[in-house]
Amino acid sequence: MTEASPVPVRHVRFSWPDDLEVVWIPDEPEFAIAANAVSLLMPHAEPYVVWSTRQSLSESLISPQDPISIEARAYVAQEAQHHAQHRRFNDLLTLQVPAISRLDRHFGRIFSWLKRRGCRFGLAFAAAFETIAFVAARWVDRNQRHLRGADPSAATMFLWHLAEEVEHKSVAFNTYMATGGGRLRYGCAVVVAALVLAWGALLGSLTMMRSTGRLWKPMSHLKLARWSLSFVFAAMPTMVVSALPGHHPDQLANPAGLDNWLSNFDENTSSVPPWALP
Ligand SMILES: [Fe+2]
Ligand SMILES: [Fe+2]
Repeated sequence: MTEASPVPVRHVRFSWPDDLEVVWIPDEPEFAIAANAVSLLMPHAEPYVVWSTRQSLSESLISPQDPISIEARAYVAQEAQHHAQHRRFNDLLTLQVPAISRLDRHFGRIFSWLKRRGCRFGLAFAAAFETIAFVAARWVDRNQRHLRGADPSAATMFLWHLAEEVEHKSVAFNTYMATGGGRLRYGCAVVVAALVLAWGALLGSLTMMRSTGRLWKPMSHLKLARWSLSFVFAAMPTMVVSALPGHHPDQLANPAGLDNWLSNFDENTSSVPPWALP
């Protein structure tokens, strides 16, 4: 077991225009659409992992004296910041694309169903979801060039979120293992988490492609397919390895571009530096 370390909670403030463009990267509209699609899932996926972790604490599956429980509480507080910011961002997108509210209800039903699978599966899902989030951070770090010319608030929010995903990459796994763990349940959760994310990203992307007049543009679909495949090939080995006995998320190398970025958080202004191409 690794030594527990508290995860800092940063109350970051972002300022948004009321008429935020759905395609907030003028040079790579499809990249913005893919990021938006992932954002639509966050106000459901992250409260679910928060709920699972809180349940494990309130049901005393982890001793309050266990250092992991301190780490888990800090993790819950950090995740709560993430989905609150995504909810606000998604509300602005919904003003431009009203069909998003139907998707939002659909995602709500998926996660209500998952909640009924119980807290232990929820913890396995949280650990799996964090592995995928970590891989996403590494993938975005390598593909930051697609953010050139992006709306600064949107790009910074996504990068801040991914940097904090790197920061707490081990907490959900530690919590899951402290409650008994189980590699088979974790393996199932990896598959479920990947399917839910893929389904959400597909529905969200198609909805925004339609609303921005790109649904019948083959080049737009080709770009999304190319990035999706690139992500799957990047994610698959890590997801498989993460389910093997003896693996721990601490063994994963952090993306170089995000590793130290959060140290520049300014508590006086509640801001992180605006994203800029490294
Ligand atoms: Fe998060
Ligand atoms: Fe996370």
